[in-house]
Amino acid sequence: MASLLSPLLVLASFAPNIIHAFHIGSLSGEESVGAHILATRDIPAPWQFAACYVDGAHGRVFSTQLPDNPGLTIESCIASCSSQGFTLAGAEFGVQCFCGNTLINGATVGQPADCNMNCGGNPTETCGGPNRLSVYTSTGNVVALPVPTPQNTSLPNGWAYQGCLQDVGTRVFPHQLNWVDNTTVVDCINQCQAFGYPAVGLEFGNQCFCGDVSDSQNNSPGLAPESDCSFPCSGDPTHLCGGANRLSYYSFNGNLDVWHTPANTGGYQFLIGGLVVPLVATVGINGKVNFLEKLGTGFPNSTGAYELDLSLVNDFEHAWRELHVHSDVFCSASLILPDKGARQLNVGGWSLDSTFGVRLYTPDGTAGVNGTNDWEENFNELHLQQGRWYPSSLVMPNGSVLVVGGEAGSNGAPVPTLEILPTPAGGPTFLFMDWLQRTDPNNLYPFLHVLPSGNIFVGYYNEARILNPITFDTITVLPNMPGSVTTFTAGRTYPMEGTAVLLPQHAPYTDPIEILICGGSDLNFQALDNCVTIAPESPNPTWTLERMPSKRVMPCMAALPDGTFLIVNGAQQGVAGFGLADFPNLQALLYDPSQPVHQRISVLGTTIVARLYHSEATLLPDGRVLISGSDPQTNNPDGTPKFPEEFRVEVYVPPYLSDGRTQPSFTITDTDWTYGSTHTIIVTLHQGDTSTMRVSLVAATSSTHGNVMGGRTIFPEFNCAGNTCTIVAPPNANISPPGWHQLFILDGPTPSHSTFVRIGGDPGRLGEWPPFPDFTRPGS
Ligand SMILES: *[C@@H]1O[C@H](CO)[C@@H](O)[C@H](O)[C@H]1NC(C)=O
Ligand SMILES: *[C@@H]1O[C@H](CO)[C@@H](O)[C@H](O)[C@H]1NC(C)=O
Ligand SMILES: *[C@@H]1O[C@H](CO)[C@@H](O)[C@H](O)[C@H]1NC(C)=O
Ligand SMILES: *[C@@H]1O[C@H](CO)[C@@H](O)[C@H](O)[C@H]1NC(C)=O
Ligand SMILES: *[C@@H]1O[C@H](CO)[C@@H](O)[C@H](O)[C@H]1NC(C)=O
Repeated sequence: MASLLSPLLVLASFAPNIIHAFHIGSLSGEESVGAHILATRDIPAPWQFAACYVDGAHGRVFSTQLPDNPGLTIESCIASCSSQGFTLAGAEFGVQCFCGNTLINGATVGQPADCNMNCGGNPTETCGGPNRLSVYTSTGNVVALPVPTPQNTSLPNGWAYQGCLQDVGTRVFPHQLNWVDNTTVVDCINQCQAFGYPAVGLEFGNQCFCGDVSDSQNNSPGLAPESDCSFPCSGDPTHLCGGANRLSYYSFNGNLDVWHTPANTGGYQFLIGGLVVPLVATVGINGKVNFLEKLGTGFPNSTGAYELDLSLVNDFEHAWRELHVHSDVFCSASLILPDKGARQLNVGGWSLDSTFGVRLYTPDGTAGVNGTNDWEENFNELHLQQGRWYPSSLVMPNGSVLVVGGEAGSNGAPVPTLEILPTPAGGPTFLFMDWLQRTDPNNLYPFLHVLPSGNIFVGYYNEARILNPITFDTITVLPNMPGSVTTFTAGRTYPMEGTAVLLPQHAPYTDPIEILICGGSDLNFQALDNCVTIAPESPNPTWTLERMPSKRVMPCMAALPDGTFLIVNGAQQGVAGFGLADFPNLQALLYDPSQPVHQRISVLGTTIVARLYHSEATLLPDGRVLISGSDPQTNNPDGTPKFPEEFRVEVYVPPYLSDGRTQPSFTITDTDWTYGSTHTIIVTLHQGDTSTMRVSLVAATSSTHGNVMGGRTIFPEFNCAGNTCTIVAPPNANISPPGWHQLFILDGPTPSHSTFVRIGGDPGRLGEWPPFPDFTRPGS
């Protein structure tokens, strides 16, 4: 038989470059070729026979098995593997065909004579034997990898292998990544760590799970014998990635994110029952809170707009003043204008003319005394150029108002444009934005902020960019925001609604400004459990991700006078609108940007009130935060809402007001500041002195859907002599766009009540707009 094909020829063409980490099989050319001579004859080049390998000693030695084929031949097996791009083919038991690029699980070369079964489709060929593989190669090489072991070296810093963990019944870890053929221990750990998960499990060779160490304690009966974790990793067959219902379990030694649990958390308090579920909540310079309601969701007798007098919260009959809107404000954008009257502007809305709505309210009245002004609107005189449902708005450094995006109505056509108010003269002046068109319908209520360069940041869906404030051309496309550990495309704006703020700016305003965005959800309605920050104008901006202790879609974030942010409201599952939210998040958090990254969140108090879609959180002049909303969500089987219309209004009393200290106070006479000017206050402190005093300016905002329009916190320079202090106003309109602010002083941790001051005047002369007698024009 040997004479039919020279053994020398075969050996020459088959360079026995067989790499065995544990065992170099000795190839006896004579025997090897002798057993397979019939098979070798018709093999298509460059394929050639390698050896008869032992299968199954430590698991299958090939990673891919094709369906059994009673008509199997060596040629058909090679053709199948070759067509899928594999470089090795193996035939076993006459009818089985396997493919791979390496042999795994410690394959060793067996006796040539053990490959003794005829191929099902050609009795003159040999197709392995029982647990024996006739292995063919297209490269001349066979790399045989060692028996895989748990990876316990070359792990990312701080990570260690913990054992083979049972995963039966409830999944031990909540987040599963669906990688197929590239799963490795290190990649899985890196991905989980990037999203703040300190526990990792790998299962079935290719599944990567992320979670917490507590999950391994709560959801698993415990460790299993090491031998139960026997599946090589699909992307690294020298290491083990669990088994059937078994996780190769790794954990981080320590915390990736530290969530503080202070003894003094402050807490929720009931404030007053409500008349409306506010869609928009705005604290006016009259110290009263203006609520706008989604038409038709409240009492049938509702006018859709009410003002709450905070001095009368114990007197329900007198606390609420009825206001009137002429069109449907669902879902509009709001701002406080920099005019003398601090008018509240509301634009857009629901359906037909209402989507073009431009509404103005001049707050008046004093504590305990009703004002007489009402919302003013006249479609024929004043309206947007394009109808907008879910737009955003911003006062630009030049004092005009920018209105961005929206749709023509619910699930309507996108309105992928922006426009300026007051409407510039001439023909249509709205501008088309391709990025709004492309990301509809996931970009509604985009996040808008003025940057210290004067350029405009816009965050929408999972994208962000910087716009020129004159041409609105894109100056910089920022990296996409990371989403959830499983879905990079999770979103941050309506309907996958998160919430965004500018982090505080401190004199001399040289640090790069940062934007913080918390929560959101993915397309599977899973809320996000992280916040991301970026310094958009730093040299190579990237997003930093910090994990929150719980998931949150539709969160609200209120700027507090001490530079921290209160995070409240929202759901752990769902998206905004459509009644889809479930599992309310009742836990308040505090985000403190003065702490190191990953150590900024404290866990505060919990509420009993579910606040989902159309809930808000608004800083009050006394340092508390007003908590309002929400609209009905999620139907019970009998059709009643699981989370009904919520009229009750709460406040959150932050820790700085619940530690028994007295609030400081100050007096000021000039409340209309130009840039860089100085202003005197007389302070009364109770615990510290002016060396531990701080001064803050919290911009007056209007908030809807977690989008706090106009939000900004500034810690200006100040100097004191005795109890007389001089505050230096921020230097320019890019650092501090024209507008009203609540001025606070802080005695150590404790804030005063605020006084409203205006900074930067009214360069856009909004106070003289619109030029119609049926509108109040408070002057510039
Ligand atoms: C690491 O794994 C190898 C292979 O399983 C094992 O022999 C060794 O003892 C392990 N080392 C540690 C520190 O666990
Ligand atoms: C694994 O492959 C998938 C595509 O199948 C890819 O999305 C993923 O990023 C890869 N994972 C790693 C860690 O490279
Ligand atoms: C509207 O009607 C409800 C229920 O009848 C009542 O509780 C509420 O006070 C009324 N609101 C006003 C503003 O009259
Ligand atoms: C304010 O006006 C409302 C009617 O809109 C009235 O119910 C309320 O009693 C008034 N409050 C005071 C303090 O006069
Ligand atoms: C502000 O800039 C916009 C965009 O260039 C422009 O339309 C508007 O007229 C400017 N406003 C003022 C007051 O100059």
